[in-house]
Amino acid sequence: MAAHNADAGLAASVQNLAGRLRPDFTLGVAAAAFQIEGALAADGRGPSGWDAFAATPGNILNGHSPEVACDHYNRVPEDVALMHELGIDSYRFSISWPRIHPEGHGAANPRGLDFYDRLVDLLLAAGISPMATLYHWDTPLPLERHGGWMNRATAERFAEYAAAAGKRLGDRVAQWVTLNEPVSVTLNGYALGVHAPGRDLLFKALPSVHHQLLGHGLAVQALRAAGVAGTIGVTNLHSPVRPATRRLADRLLAKVCDLVLNRIYADPILLGRYPAPPLAARPWFRFLSRTSDDDLRLISQPLDFYGVNYYYPVRVAAGQGPTDTPAGNAQAMARVPFHLAAFPEYATTGFGWPVAPEHLGILLRELKDRYGAALPPVYITESGASFPEPEHVTGPIADSGRIDYLAHHLDQAMNATAPGGIADDVQLLGYFVWTFMDNFEWAAGYSQRFGLVHVDFETLKRTPKKSFYWLQALSRARARTA
Ligand code: NOJ
Repeated sequence: MAAHNADAGLAASVQNLAGRLRPDFTLGVAAAAFQIEGALAADGRGPSGWDAFAATPGNILNGHSPEVACDHYNRVPEDVALMHELGIDSYRFSISWPRIHPEGHGAANPRGLDFYDRLVDLLLAAGISPMATLYHWDTPLPLERHGGWMNRATAERFAEYAAAAGKRLGDRVAQWVTLNEPVSVTLNGYALGVHAPGRDLLFKALPSVHHQLLGHGLAVQALRAAGVAGTIGVTNLHSPVRPATRRLADRLLAKVCDLVLNRIYADPILLGRYPAPPLAARPWFRFLSRTSDDDLRLISQPLDFYGVNYYYPVRVAAGQGPTDTPAGNAQAMARVPFHLAAFPEYATTGFGWPVAPEHLGILLRELKDRYGAALPPVYITESGASFPEPEHVTGPIADSGRIDYLAHHLDQAMNATAPGGIADDVQLLGYFVWTFMDNFEWAAGYSQRFGLVHVDFETLKRTPKKSFYWLQALSRARARTA
């Protein structure tokens, strides 16, 4: 009876959503090269900064290694067949920079490009539209050794790589995303040292913001010069920041955190300028105030779409103190002079992140308020959650927490952007679930499972979860344009 009720509940959530998805709305899944491919030395791939970081004892939880990951590199046909069964419209994958430019510069490695060429053809044959992300954090190690994104020259190298990818795949890739979450690279990688390249420069990491954005601008130019047929955008993580109380100190802190987490990435891209920090915080941001107008013009070229990754809002309180949430960032948060306060009203995910779907709608409203006509049509390029799940399974696990999470986030996004909704002036093009299958969750190794498909990391067997069948039912139930 309980199972019957649960199934009825699922069917109802599918029906409720299916009727509200516009026929041209894209439903997709997302993944990233380093998290799924494995095969780190195959076909001339060079090492990335993440290879080196992960090989250093103590950097990855439980000493987990990315060497095999999901072995996607050797299982592409099987994985694309499963995506076809899932019935999604689009797959957002990332291209591994060190497969294309193992040395970080020079001639492109044709065997690296062959892999993505095959992937794209398999996707198209399966009726799945390819969305390619150029940078999902795997900087070639030789470039990292020269400072990585702290070095302006890396932006030029990135554009060369973008040109090579654009030339080979540009006739078939439908959407190009230049960068994925530059904030995570700067914050976790260069400021706090909990991700590759493991540097802990705090505010001295700001050049890595500007150089990534410059890389974005140069890559957009390179893709356009290569004549790619698809549309071009960028993906930023957006973490809505709320002060814990109305106290001035908390409100000021929230402003500074909003700059650090969101605005110093989005404002230059969409408005062509860095935001002005509150007076007391100005010295910290000095590097950004000295950037040239030419750079900002390059960074703010018109885009076809804007990618938003949304996971959770943060609530901040002034003063040093224990970080209540999110647990996954406790190590990093121990180093900053404020703490993240809990949202006691929300349930949490496996990472301890609050489940706050209504903030997705509010975020879309806030983006439109801030950027107005400069906000291009939006894709939610990532949304999803990890939950504690078994390492070995014999059939589809009942991941009802994930189904609820996805149903509520999609519901909020649709409500907000429907006529009369709080963000009905935002053009929402699609929603991508993070992620297709369980994978290497960076510093957390394989401990956080975000997938619609369970992966047994001993046997590499893929087993769809109930959430997979839920999304499949949704994609079957909806009306389509084609
Ligand atoms: C965003 C990142 O783009 C992705 O790589 C990561 O796995 C998810 N967040 C979950 O942490």
